[in-house]
Amino acid sequence: MKSLQAALNEFKSTFSTALQSASDEQALEHVRTTFLSRKGHLSALMEQLKNLSIEEKRTFGPLLNELKQWSEETFTIHKEQLIKSQQNAELAKQQHFDVTATMPGTLRGSLHPLTHIKQQVENIFISMGYQIADGPEVETDYYNFESLNIPADHPARDMWDTFWLDIPSLLLRTHTSPVQVHAMEKKQLPLAVIAPGRCYRHEATDATHDFLFMQLEGLVIDTNISMSNLLATCKAFLQAIFKKDLKMRVRPSYFPFTEPSIEIDITCPFCTSGCSVCKFSRWIEICGAGLVHPRVLQAAGIDTEKYSGFAFGFGLTRLAMLTYSINDIRLLHSGKIEFLEQFS
Ligand code: DAH
Repeated sequence: MKSLQAALNEFKSTFSTALQSASDEQALEHVRTTFLSRKGHLSALMEQLKNLSIEEKRTFGPLLNELKQWSEETFTIHKEQLIKSQQNAELAKQQHFDVTATMPGTLRGSLHPLTHIKQQVENIFISMGYQIADGPEVETDYYNFESLNIPADHPARDMWDTFWLDIPSLLLRTHTSPVQVHAMEKKQLPLAVIAPGRCYRHEATDATHDFLFMQLEGLVIDTNISMSNLLATCKAFLQAIFKKDLKMRVRPSYFPFTEPSIEIDITCPFCTSGCSVCKFSRWIEICGAGLVHPRVLQAAGIDTEKYSGFAFGFGLTRLAMLTYSINDIRLLHSGKIEFLEQFS
């Protein structure tokens, strides 16, 4: 019966080694099924008991019972230790959890400078009682030109280098002015709207010109509208956006859709004695504007005896470049992460 004794010893040592190396619940369960289950090694040893003589049974019976008790107790102790150490590890993790830690390598998002300036501008005009109007970027010849008093053969069309589509009379809008006509057709009078939006010009690109840029259109239609309403509105807006009391200068100009037409300059918000932004002139050209031409009002079916209006058009992209000191317009649509990161 030496072999049964050897088997008992072997069981003890292999069971102990297996238990020591079981470091998680899955491994522990594997040890249990291999050694202690009904089909495990211990049961196989117990099976051998019935083939022994009475004498031998007297010797090995108690030995096997002892082994059974010992192995089950050892297993339970090891299991409890493992659970405890797992709980301690979890607790330590929670205790050292730093809620303020930033994940290394995460990029924080930010608003694109054009979106940011657009929101600022919208907020200022909304506070003055304006509504936001919108129009399509693919326009018809009628809205982009005809209705704005720029007929097909008019030389003023040269002011807007146009991307024409293959479909006759369709184009990418060259300015936001067509939204004026859409707004007059849609909305009730009196009317005060702004329309920020993308425009397209068939132009060579350089640091200050792009084929895609943003404008901001403004339109007010009411009774008794005069040039002073226009100037006061522009001044209030410019002071709010640059947060400074700036001087304004008005020059006569020409736009087919306004009469009279003007251009507005402001004193440079960035210097007192000349800088590269104002090209050392102390003045910055900021927008085109004027009183809405009666033909434009008529095209939208408005009674010109009763109503008049003013309109203005800012370069929103230019405004963003001025406020954020961006020296190349092409950066705005470059998608360069190093550029965009600066605005977070
Ligand atoms: N649409 C003009 C342009 O693209 C800008 C402009 C000038 C808009 C005068 C106006 C305006 O509403 O009154 O150059």
